[in-house]
Amino acid sequence: MSDILEVRELRAYYGQVQALHGIDLSLREGSVTTLLGANGAGKTTTLRSICNMIRFTGAIRFDGIELSTRSTEKLVRLGIAHVPQGRGTFTRMTVEENLRLGAISRNDERAVTGDIDRMYAHFPKLKERRSQQAGTLSGGEQQMLAVARALMLRPRLMLLDEPSFGLAPLIVRDLFGILAKINREDKVTIMVVEQNAELALELASDAYVIETGRIVMSGPAAEISNNEDIRKSYLGY
Ligand SMILES: Nc1ncnc2c1ncn2[C@@H]1O[C@H](COP(=O)(O)OP(=O)(O)OP(=O)(O)O)[C@@H](O)[C@H]1O
Ligand SMILES: [Mg+2]
Repeated sequence: MSDILEVRELRAYYGQVQALHGIDLSLREGSVTTLLGANGAGKTTTLRSICNMIRFTGAIRFDGIELSTRSTEKLVRLGIAHVPQGRGTFTRMTVEENLRLGAISRNDERAVTGDIDRMYAHFPKLKERRSQQAGTLSGGEQQMLAVARALMLRPRLMLLDEPSFGLAPLIVRDLFGILAKINREDKVTIMVVEQNAELALELASDAYVIETGRIVMSGPAAEISNNEDIRKSYLGY
């Protein structure tokens, strides 16, 4: 498998404060990669850098194309979808309106309707609630809507920021099962940022551990989850 995303020497800044200190990452096309780390480690900042939402130096290449000169909108056109921390669905709109909005940059109206049906197949709960305002959904349903909306772009790469946050363990399991299916069947490469290391390592094939803006560990997910020292020192379980 070739690498779909390459990050080299990434340094990111909030004003004068440096949050990332030279991150290197490679995502294999078709893989699920997890970026693990504690509060404030720099996980969200890494995703924001990839999406060009923050000032950074270094190289970020998607499919060989340098991303640093591109707007967030262009990234969407290239096929990068971002499900931000806190989900960001439009609470006053219905489930279905949110899904349609996810496809707004596309101009193939017929295919959009078909894709909405595919999302309902992945997420039957969303179908039941298609006419309900997003703000009235449960936390798990809102997370599923955020993922489904991102998939409406037909992305090649989906970046997820702590999708398990605030969800009951069974709901997380359900959601991660769907992510695995989407990765397998729709060939979407996935990068998932998580504090919930145990579950993320089950889903992922590759893993990175970040601590105070630096990668301190990387390798096959199975190797990292089997290493008790790493688990205890970095992952807290
Ligand atoms: N808007 C901001 N302004 C200034 N500093 C920020 C801002 N956002 C994040 N930081 C700082 O950057 C560092 C990395 O934060 P980041 O949000 O990337 O961490 P994280 O790994 O996503 O944590 P969490 O698991 O809590 O979401 C932290 O020290 C944080 O305080
Ligand atoms: Mg974060």
